[in-house]
Amino acid sequence: MKNKLWQIWQYILYLPRCIHLHGIHSPFVFELHSELFKEKASYYSFDEIESIRAKLLLTKKELTVNDFGASSSVLKDNQRSVASIARTSIKPAKTAQLLFYFVHYFKPQIVIELGTCLGITSAYLAKANPNGHLTTLEGATELAQVAQINFTKLNIKNITQVNGNFDKTFKAKLKRLKRVDFIFFDGNHRKEPTLRYFEDALPFADDQSIFVFDDIYWSKEMTQAWKVIKDHPKVTITIDCFAMGFVFFKNDQAKEHFTVYH
Ligand SMILES: C[S@@+](CC[C@H](N)C(=O)[O-])C[C@H]1O[C@@H](n2cnc3c(N)ncnc32)[C@H](O)[C@@H]1O
Repeated sequence: MKNKLWQIWQYILYLPRCIHLHGIHSPFVFELHSELFKEKASYYSFDEIESIRAKLLLTKKELTVNDFGASSSVLKDNQRSVASIARTSIKPAKTAQLLFYFVHYFKPQIVIELGTCLGITSAYLAKANPNGHLTTLEGATELAQVAQINFTKLNIKNITQVNGNFDKTFKAKLKRLKRVDFIFFDGNHRKEPTLRYFEDALPFADDQSIFVFDDIYWSKEMTQAWKVIKDHPKVTITIDCFAMGFVFFKNDQAKEHFTVYH
C-alpha cells in the first residue's frame, strides 16, 4: 500500500514534467524521442512473444520461487502460479517493446538483463538484434527453467542464462565479458543493491553504453537510487519515461535530464 501511494504520487508529479518534441534542445534526445519513444511499428517477433505471454497468463501450474529481491518481503509464501507471475512481475508489452526499439536501433553487441523471470522481456531484447548476445540473470531456478522453454519455442539462439543470486553472478559475468553495451536492471528493486550493481557495471561501460533501470518510481528507495544515478559524475544524459530510466554516458553531451511521456 505504501509503495502504491508513492507510485500514484510520483505519477502525478511526473506528468507535468514531461516535455514535448519542441522543448527538446538536444538533437540526440530529440532523435530518440521521435524515433523510439514515439515508435509504434509492430515486428513479427512481437506477435510470437505476445502469444507466449498469453499462454503463460492461462497457466495455473505452481512454481517454487526463491525470490532474492525486493518483493520477497511482501510474498506470503514462495509458491506462485505461472499466471500470477505473468500478470504481476513481467513488463507489459508497451514497455518491453520500447526496449526492443532501443536494441534494434543501437544494435548493442553485449547485452545483460538482471531478472529473467519467465523470459518475456529477455525474448524482446534477444530478438531485437540477432547479431548481439544477451546474458540474462535469474535467481529463481524454476522461473529460469520456464524461460528456457520459452526461448526454445521462440528459436532464440543468442542468449545465455545464468542462474544464481545477482550478488554473486553479476560481477563475475561482467569480468568474463570484459565490456557491456546495454544493461537492463530489472530485479532486486532496493536502493542499496541497485546502486551497488550500477557501481559494479560502471568500469565495464564506455561512452556508448546504455543502462536502463526499471521501476524507478516503484518505491521511495528506488526513486532515491534513481536520483543518485542521475547525479553520478560519469552520467551525462538521462531520460525518464516513468516506467524506466535510461542512462547515457556520452562524452559529447552536456549533463541534462529529460522526462518524456510514454
Ligand atoms: C521484475 S522480475 C523480471 C521481469 C523480466 N525482466 C520481464 O520483464 O520479463 C525480477 C526477477 O529478478 C529476480 N531477482 C530479484 N532479485 C534477485 C537477485 N538478487 N538475484 C537473482 N535474481 C533476482 C526475481 O526472481 C525475478 O524473477
